Amino acid sequence: MRVLITGATGLLGAEIVRQCRAAGWETLGTARTPPPDSDLAPMDITDPDMVRATVDAFRPEVVIHCAAMTHVDACETDPHEAYRINTFGAEVIAAHCQRVGAACVYISTDYVFDGAKGAPYHEYDTPNPLSVYGRSKYLGEAAVQALCPRHYIVRVAWLYGVERKTFPQFVLDAARQGQSPTVIADQIGSPTYVADVADRLLRLVQTDCYGVYHLTNPPPVSRYEFACALLEAAGLSVPPTPLPMAHWQTPAPRPAYSALTSWRLPWVGVPPMPDWRDAMRRFLHALGQVSS
Ligand SMILES: NC(=O)c1ccc[n+]([C@@H]2O[C@H](COP(=O)([O-])OP(=O)(O)OC[C@H]3O[C@@H](n4cnc5c(N)ncnc54)[C@H](OP(=O)(O)O)[C@@H]3O)[C@@H](O)[C@H]2O)c1
Repeated sequence: MRVLITGATGLLGAEIVRQCRAAGWETLGTARTPPPDSDLAPMDITDPDMVRATVDAFRPEVVIHCAAMTHVDACETDPHEAYRINTFGAEVIAAHCQRVGAACVYISTDYVFDGAKGAPYHEYDTPNPLSVYGRSKYLGEAAVQALCPRHYIVRVAWLYGVERKTFPQFVLDAARQGQSPTVIADQIGSPTYVADVADRLLRLVQTDCYGVYHLTNPPPVSRYEFACALLEAAGLSVPPTPLPMAHWQTPAPRPAYSALTSWRLPWVGVPPMPDWRDAMRRFLHALGQVSS
């Protein structure tokens, strides 16, 4: 398999590059600004000429498009940039996938949903994004669907991993400094380990069963419960401080409930995503922080 990955310096992109290489696939990781001494190729996804040249030189069979403007509040305050990167960037990538006959994998988000359902969203639920980030990603999905029929739209949520500090590391760091981490009590979702997303994604792209997929660790959990479980598993006895979502003032609105479930994964013979508690323990092990 010849795979091109965008956003290879990001949390998910870096893990996908690692697992594609471990699988022995011909892998090209691309980044807007590759770090010095890295083997990543420079490619700005909003520069059509650059994307054309990179795709022509590598001739991928699959493009896994992870690059995005992921800061939800920055998207709200700078919608021009959010739509340029998340929507126009997806249009550019999808068009060039179609031109060279590559399948296009677009990584999307639980924030395409508004949370009103109050139960896990499956792939056939109708999105209704609340924020600029959610709308820019949903329009990115639509562009990929329209421009490249051989597509996988893969929605993930609340990502964490060892490559970059995210929610779990902030919770653990605060507790280690003797401070009680403040955590939203009533936001429910699907904290998801990037290693599990990458594993299932590599299986998915070999199925030729195109369409929308949800890849998240079940079952639904609140941020507060997740933080408590992390602290307990890491042997830290500092309880988090719960904060009601209504008291959390941010530029972008977020869904109070955005847990995802997958109907389609078993239908195409891909094993279900592991339970979040199992994923969390493997993550802590990878961080070297499991209590004895
Ligand atoms: N993180 C989450 O909790 C979460 C939840 C749901 C969905 N997602 C989706 O999952 C995907 C991966 O997220 P992530 O958290 O791994 O992202 P991330 O760590 O924030 O990385 C995003 C990457 O995109 C790159 N990028 C931004 N603009 C670019 C451009 N114009 N050209 C090329 N590269 C560009 C960034 O490069 P620079 O370093 O140069 O900016 C960075 O490497 C995204 O599509 C995101 O929307 C994430």
